[in-house]
Amino acid sequence: MTVKAVQFNVNGRDEAVMARPIETLLSVLRDGLGLTSVKSGCAQGGCGACSVLVDGELRLACITPAEDVAGSEILTLEGLNETNSMAAIQESFVANYAAQCGFCTPGMLVAVTALMESNPKPSRDEIMEALSGNICRCTSYLPIVDAVESAAGELSGQGDD
Ligand code: FES
Ligand code: FES
Repeated sequence: MTVKAVQFNVNGRDEAVMARPIETLLSVLRDGLGLTSVKSGCAQGGCGACSVLVDGELRLACITPAEDVAGSEILTLEGLNETNSMAAIQESFVANYAAQCGFCTPGMLVAVTALMESNPKPSRDEIMEALSGNICRCTSYLPIVDAVESAAGELSGQGDD
């Protein structure tokens, strides 16, 4: 199997990784670059734990071949942590008891970011729809929806970086 160099930008840094033809973006981000916020949950596109942004679009890194994102701009939670909006979202998750295990939360925060980029003040139904691909086994989801609603309300009333 031919290993190929793949170049992309991750969290503002140009990176080059060696990837096998079927190697996933999850593998190169997590194992190759040490970006451990990108979790391997189901590894088959069903749980959302590996969510990242590729050129601003929400993508599941476990079913995305690394080769397919050559030349793209990728954001993981490590990169999103630098923004004021993520600080507000995380504070809201804590205040609303929306984070418990820490395993599914990074992917949810990435999905929330994607939602708020396209819809800064989503309804509860829109929040539930946007997070429908992110599985959580412990919060009953309602605190998560509360947290996103609260953060969206706060952020829509202020400028962001
Ligand atoms: S690990 Fe990618 S969707 Fe579950
Ligand atoms: S907070 Fe991770 S499974 Fe519920």
